[in-house]
Amino acid sequence: MAGVSFRNVTKIFGKDVKAVDNLNLDIRDREFMVLVGPSGCGKTTALRMIAGLEEATSGDLMIGEQRVNEVPPKDRDIAMVFQNYALYPHMTVYDNIAFGLRLRELKGFFWQLSHLAEAKTVKADIDRRVHETAQMLDIDHLLHRRPKELSGGQRQRVALGRAIVRKPKVFLMDEPLSNLDAKLRIQTRAELIRLHRSLGITTIYVTHDQVEAMTMGQRIAVMKDGLLQQCDEPEAVYNRPANKFVAGFIGAPPMNFLDARVERTGDGLFVDTGDFRIPLPGDHAAADRAGQPVTLGIRPEAIFDAAMNNPIASTEANTIEAKVDVLEPLGPEYTAYLFTGTHNVLATIDSGTKIKEGESCRFSINLDALHLFDVETEMAIR
Ligand SMILES: Nc1ncnc2c1ncn2[C@@H]1O[C@H](COP(=O)(O)OP(=O)(O)OP(=O)(O)O)[C@@H](O)[C@H]1O
Ligand SMILES: [Mg+2]
Repeated sequence: MAGVSFRNVTKIFGKDVKAVDNLNLDIRDREFMVLVGPSGCGKTTALRMIAGLEEATSGDLMIGEQRVNEVPPKDRDIAMVFQNYALYPHMTVYDNIAFGLRLRELKGFFWQLSHLAEAKTVKADIDRRVHETAQMLDIDHLLHRRPKELSGGQRQRVALGRAIVRKPKVFLMDEPLSNLDAKLRIQTRAELIRLHRSLGITTIYVTHDQVEAMTMGQRIAVMKDGLLQQCDEPEAVYNRPANKFVAGFIGAPPMNFLDARVERTGDGLFVDTGDFRIPLPGDHAAADRAGQPVTLGIRPEAIFDAAMNNPIASTEANTIEAKVDVLEPLGPEYTAYLFTGTHNVLATIDSGTKIKEGESCRFSINLDALHLFDVETEMAIR
């Protein structure tokens, strides 16, 4: 078992493609860490450096206490499931899973001839581990089949099995569920979480899907353009995003951003969007920005139909008027496209609502869930 650390790790491809930019990240022993970010932000490159498939341009890669920059991949005791995994098509599921183990532990034909008894023990051990793994992944009834006789989801599990069977110090998974349909993805997601719980192996899981990140990660690390933006527990990243990028990336539908201004009047501190004005606590970090522009962030799920029975009480201070442009039914809720005069705002409204397209209605905002961002740096103001 071991943790993994990036210490000031940079990877530059060619002359100037900075795929990973001075990354500092500690993944704890036994932790399930998710690296998430848009396409091209450096997730795969970060993983490949840990696996030893890519050399860091500068910085230190640590597995446990050991600096591994110069350790060859096969000696790092890591198993990786790739973005585009490939099974050996001519081998059965059993042989696909056992292949890596045999290669590692059976050391060639002549060794086997001269160490008959030992080879027999190793083979029995491999056989036991293949069956254990297959059972865990619910593919033990498929061991005799070849990949082309399997469904996509079953193939994916064989690819996982190949990695799991080795019981490595660290698992690296690069979008391992991307080839699955929505239903299988949710199911396999849950299986992976269970698996991690029972094996307790340090896992670094890469995805560009924020839902996957939120549901799977014990902590998530959000990246953009090779730069780490924030690393924390999912709730913390959702509730206290460090900057506008993270705030917009995590959560669906995405957070609303409105150009606004901080104002101090005789009545207290406010943030004013031009269309409506909402109060801020007097000691808010934006208190010294009176008169200055800010970006106001409101999540769609922080907006409620004021006519309904909501978790927050509707008051004069937290309630605004808006026109309902479009209502998109999603089953348990609607996505409502609201217009407040000059701003378009998305709201997630409980399906019990009576609001109608084209009508002007009143909406209450959860004032405890407001976000303010600096217009220039885009950093959260708090
Ligand atoms: N071998 C390479 N040579 C040159 N540039 C590369 C190479 N591999 C990756 N890059 C570049 O490095 C950046 C990061 O790529 P990387 O594959 O790590 O992104 P990613 O976050 O995994 O994206 P995706 O979600 O699309 O898989 C990209 O700009 C990519 O074009
Ligand atoms: Mg990738």
